Parts: sequence; C-alpha cells; structure tokens
Amino acid sequence: MTNNSNIELLKCSQLNKWYGNLHALKDVDLTINKGEVIGLIGDNGAGKSTLIKIICGVHNLDKGEIFFEGNKIKIKNPKTAMNLGIETIHQYNTMFQEMSIARNVFIGREPKKFGLKSLGILDEEKMNTESMQAIKEVGLDLRSPHIPVKELSGGERQGVSIARSMYFKSKMLILDEPTNHLSVKETLKVLEYVKSLSSMGISSIFISHNLYHIHEIADRIVGMARGEKVCDMNKSETTVNELIKLIG
Ligand SMILES: Nc1ncnc2c1ncn2[C@@H]1O[C@H](COP(=O)(O)OP(=O)(O)OP(=O)(O)O)[C@@H](O)[C@H]1O
Ligand SMILES: [Mg+2]
Repeated sequence: MTNNSNIELLKCSQLNKWYGNLHALKDVDLTINKGEVIGLIGDNGAGKSTLIKIICGVHNLDKGEIFFEGNKIKIKNPKTAMNLGIETIHQYNTMFQEMSIARNVFIGREPKKFGLKSLGILDEEKMNTESMQAIKEVGLDLRSPHIPVKELSGGERQGVSIARSMYFKSKMLILDEPTNHLSVKETLKVLEYVKSLSSMGISSIFISHNLYHIHEIADRIVGMARGEKVCDMNKSETTVNELIKLIG
C-alpha cells in the first residue's frame, strides 16, 4: 500500500473470453503496477474469476493481449504463469487433500536429489524442512510437514497456499475470495499478509465480496458487471458506501 510504484508489472488489453455462447469477458483492460494491491469486486457471475483464470493460465484467452514486465506474452497454462512469478490462491481450494503439507508446498516444483545412488529422487528432507520454515514465516504454527492437508482447518490451508507463494518468491499474488470460511482472526492475518507483500514490492489482486476488506487493503478498486469492467479508481477517490451502492 505504501509502495505503490509506477512501474507496470502486468497489462491486459481488450481481453475477451467466451464459454460457448456466453460472452464472459468483454474487452476488459487491466493494468497492475509493481507493489500495487487491486481489489476486484462485482456481483456473482460478473467475470472476476474468469479474468484471473486467464492471467494465471487456467483458461486460454479468446481475444486480447497480455504484457508482463513490458513483454507481450502468451500464458498457455498454469506452469507458464508460475514461471513468470504469478501465484494464485483459487476460490475453491485446489490443494491435494490426501497429500502432506510438504508435498503441497512443492507441488509441480519438487526438488530432486542427484547423488550417485539417488538420481532424480525427491528430496524429501529439503521439502520437509523448507516447507515448515516457509509456514513459520507466514505466522502459522503447524506441528509437522507430514500432516495431510485434509486434516487442516480452512485458515491453515490458506496459510499453506500463502507459504507456497512466498517460498517461490512470486512477483504477483492473486487471491480469489481467500477469506471465505475464515475466522475473524484468520481473515485479519490474510489482510495483513497482503499488505506486507505490497511493502516488499509484490503486487496482488484480491477478489472479495466484503467491500470493507477491499476498501481497507486495496490501492485501486476495479469493478466488474456482466463481463465488463465498470469502474477502475483509486481507493482515495471512493468510500465503502459508494462501493456498496455501485455493487451491493
Ligand atoms: N467453466 C465455465 N464454463 C461455462 N461457463 C462458465 C465457466 N466458468 C464461469 N462461467 C460463467 O461465466 C460467468 C462469469 O463467471 P465467473 O466465475 O467469472 O464469475 P465471478 O465474478 O467470479 O462470480 P462469483 O463472485 O460468484 O465467484 C458466469 O455466468 C458463469 O456462469
Ligand atoms: Mg468467482
């Protein structure tokens, strides 16, 4: 929030997405600067998740252009986005429930051992110690890296996702309704965390139906309705009551 620079990180231009006949994104422009927090708001079905799924490679774009750090890019799949430094915490938890905390932190990017006898086997020790370290750094106190994710609370699961994005030093974090089902205390932790990212120069897009949370943490607020961007304003230009009138 304090570190709102003018260096452009991501620029989306005239994005369009159709699901069959449904025109889910209509010529949407979105720019996000380094360290900026964007609050993305809008009614159910407005197109918020669709927009961020294009940015994080879950869906492909039908029309439009995306620039990252000034270069035109194609985000073909989630791996491309992750390699660019775009991490996403999805609306519906996509962690692997049966797998351990450590495996979930390193999923898709597992460290391997390349000793004489251990060609390419998983480096479990590294995953265990480093996942616990990453989790500690986000202020969570979990007993062991071996616990399966299904045994964690909603807040603890969010913490593991956040620890993962921290560990891999992302440039941008997308959070799609990350505070649903969280306690007041856990929610405050997530909000504080997003603020701390901003002070480290990491940008975020925060989707929420809670306009108080949005107003508290966002530098800029972008509103969507029926697949279109309907507003894009600095937080200082608006109030929670205005947002409620606009969207609520
Ligand atoms: N995979 C899909 N296939 C077909 N239609 C979809 C798909 N995903 C979303 N839609 C439709 O696209 C529109 C936009 O949905 P989207 O999930 O982007 O909304 P949203 O703004 O995230 O809403 P919410 O606040 O309820 O999460 C909706 O009409 C939805 O039904
Ligand atoms: Mg959604």
